[in-house]
Amino acid sequence: MYTSVADQTTEQLGGPLSVLVRQKRDHVRLNALLEQLRGTSGETQADVLLHIYRLVFPHAFAEESVLWPVMRRVLPDGGELTLEVEREHQEVNELVQKLEGLPDGSTERADVLGRLAEVLDDDVRDEEDSLFPRLQARVSRRELQVLGVLWEVVRRIAPTRAHPVVARRPPGNVVAALPLSVLDRGRDAVDHALLGAPGSLVPALHRISSALARAAHAVELLPMMRSGEDPSTRYVAGRPPFPWAAVLVCLAAAGLVGAGARRVLRRNG
Ligand SMILES: [Fe+2]
Ligand SMILES: [Fe+2]
Repeated sequence: MYTSVADQTTEQLGGPLSVLVRQKRDHVRLNALLEQLRGTSGETQADVLLHIYRLVFPHAFAEESVLWPVMRRVLPDGGELTLEVEREHQEVNELVQKLEGLPDGSTERADVLGRLAEVLDDDVRDEEDSLFPRLQARVSRRELQVLGVLWEVVRRIAPTRAHPVVARRPPGNVVAALPLSVLDRGRDAVDHALLGAPGSLVPALHRISSALARAAHAVELLPMMRSGEDPSTRYVAGRPPFPWAAVLVCLAAAGLVGAGARRVLRRNG
């Protein structure tokens, strides 16, 4: 029988650098945030949700791109085990996307929030009680520490918002990481500024936040972002149209980079 990560000390889990210690720490923080979320509404709820997104999405992204490929390699049933948690992650992405269109105080919003807390809790239990103890039995303390450092690096640069269309597996999620992370983190800063901003600035900040959300959605619709996806975690809300907007965003970004490079060359030449 395996001992849950929840019942092991830092030393037993491989020391402070170990991926298991880092996972457990994030899971404890998530639990506290879910407690805070209960019974909230309006700006308070929006603030707690922002903290939850910033914790959960980079955390899960780094699991999908760093840890689950290792689980699939070292465990005979790693494919099935990781697919189960990928489905949970996919449901979290879909629930959060749904939540963004639901009015404050509605019954449907309360139901979606309840389900979100339930799936996040199931995900933590599956990882701490089943997946991680089995990984621990297969790899050395040193490997747990190396995985911990890799996972932490990816977590710090990963997207921070729900992207249900993007593959839950490499290479799609890895390709999506950089553009989505830049757009998501920009949106986080704007949404954070919105909380408590003077009334005159609110409409402009809302417009910037929506534009960043639309740009991220356009990027996630690029076909390459879905490569590597298992059919059971594919987003099924209709067939997405050809992402012309993403093409325009990429062309505009390339144009800006080119103009900047020309200016630097002119200055130095
Ligand atoms: Fe986790
Ligand atoms: Fe997870």
